[in-house]
Amino acid sequence: MIKHDVLIVGAGLAGMRAAIECCEDLSVGLLTKVYPSRSHSGAAQGGIAAALGNSEDDSWEEHMFDTIKGGDYLNDQDAVEEYVKAAPRIIYELEHFGCVFSRMADGRIAQRSFGGHSKPRACFSADRTGHAILHALHEQLMKRGKEIRIYNEWYLHSLIVEEDQCHGVVVSNVKTGEVEIIQAKSVIFATGGYGRVFKITTNAYASTADGAIAAFNAGVPLEDPEFVQFHPSGLYRQGILFSEAARGEGGYLLNGKGERFMEAYAPARMELAPRDIVSRAEQSEIDAGRGWNGEGCIALDLRHLGEARIMERLPQIRQLGIDFIGVDCIKAPLPIQPSAHYSMGGIPTDMFGQVILNKDKAPLKGFFAAGECACVSVHGGNRLGTNSLLDATVFGERTGKSAAEHARSVGFGQINEGREKAGVLKQIEEIFQRTGTESYNDIRNTMKDTMMEQCGVFRDSGKLNECLKQIKLLQEKFKKGKVTDKGKVFNTELFEIIELGNMLKMAEIITVGALNREESRGGHYRTDFPKRDDDKFLNHTLVHKDGDQLKLDKKPVVITKYPPKERTY
Ligand code: FUM
Repeated sequence: MIKHDVLIVGAGLAGMRAAIECCEDLSVGLLTKVYPSRSHSGAAQGGIAAALGNSEDDSWEEHMFDTIKGGDYLNDQDAVEEYVKAAPRIIYELEHFGCVFSRMADGRIAQRSFGGHSKPRACFSADRTGHAILHALHEQLMKRGKEIRIYNEWYLHSLIVEEDQCHGVVVSNVKTGEVEIIQAKSVIFATGGYGRVFKITTNAYASTADGAIAAFNAGVPLEDPEFVQFHPSGLYRQGILFSEAARGEGGYLLNGKGERFMEAYAPARMELAPRDIVSRAEQSEIDAGRGWNGEGCIALDLRHLGEARIMERLPQIRQLGIDFIGVDCIKAPLPIQPSAHYSMGGIPTDMFGQVILNKDKAPLKGFFAAGECACVSVHGGNRLGTNSLLDATVFGERTGKSAAEHARSVGFGQINEGREKAGVLKQIEEIFQRTGTESYNDIRNTMKDTMMEQCGVFRDSGKLNECLKQIKLLQEKFKKGKVTDKGKVFNTELFEIIELGNMLKMAEIITVGALNREESRGGHYRTDFPKRDDDKFLNHTLVHKDGDQLKLDKKPVVITKYPPKERTY
């Protein structure tokens, strides 16, 4: 059996930042189903927020207020305060770690505008910010190579919980197919989100809810799963991200009549309103038959920015347009549509990354979560752009510290190794034994179509009930498929099937949360309940596992400085 003081699952920004925090005096394992520098954090393009005040006066209070208003007042404000206060220090730390930020003429870190932020506070590396930070942190890990063992291409199956304490994980080495136990005094999940549940998504193939569902299966509820963010500028039909930085630099959104239609939806902020508002505006234009070129898309027009600015500030999205659809944004607009981008909900934690089990905030000792898979909740009902890289680094650090402290204070517990391994081996064997005729590809595609159409930007009870019915049907079909590769070495077919099972469960949890929340708030919009209802729904959703059923509960929102008021832009 492998043993580490701290085991971290997921090697994106949150996981790597946590690892750096733990490795001084502890044995650290960092497990990833891809390779650290291929983690989805690398897809974040436009920036990381901090009130540095480099291009305009700014303050942590303004950052805090913008984040809370952006989140439609569902954010836990005590956590938001800690988070925005930490931001400037985190940026300078990243700079000292070697992250190459774009600069102003006087050498200070440049900052650009982003949706919902009242000041330019996005620090950026052209339009490859996540990539730049990911590589800087990876280099820091390499430097600490002796203290951190990295398990590349290992897959998480389950969390080991005994007597209200977490003791480790059951995993597979994808290369050999061996199922292994990793025992740890502290386990941190930094496993990312679940955008792959939807047809059109900016998310990497790896974003399949593995961590969220492993936690859920171990008795941890999921918080606010109904809040899924649709990014306004995913490539039409493909979802590939064209950074919001394009609008931060001055890009326009045009409908089929050539109008800057945001004038009608958010006159004060136009294209730089928060994402939930811009995505709904785009979808409304498309649904009203005013899509670009008569199609289901909107035009992102950057031509007026000029070649020099595009090449300096937005070189990656220019190349993506050329590579994927043969459109050069210097010469022509890019076709875009709302694309599933970020999960505001996830594994509930306190502001130190400690996972909590219920509305009374009882901790599951030894289990921590950070980054997109966690719900702290600093983003409430809608995350502002550039607040995600900040979340991953701030809470990666904080969670790493808490997990290290816990690991220093306890010994290794007892694990029933045989039973834990047998449970996962049985699950794998059951998949191998299936002899049905259902196609996993068809099931996956139908799930994605269903979630996009019935649980997307606009929802209502009719659509959501239909969605739930379809997802349950797909869960039944899922049991009646067939695996063609029964080998052990790099059996990616097997792991994709397990991921699909996780996504089907996540789809059910999202839909049940969305059905229950009979109001509109942030990224969750019910056409049958178009108003926010603070009397009934100013609380977090908790979805618990209850045998094969789901049980709903709620948890109060922490409000400190900013009581809810009307949200206009
Ligand atoms: O549009 C973007 O560059 C995405 C950034 C984010 O989600 O924070």
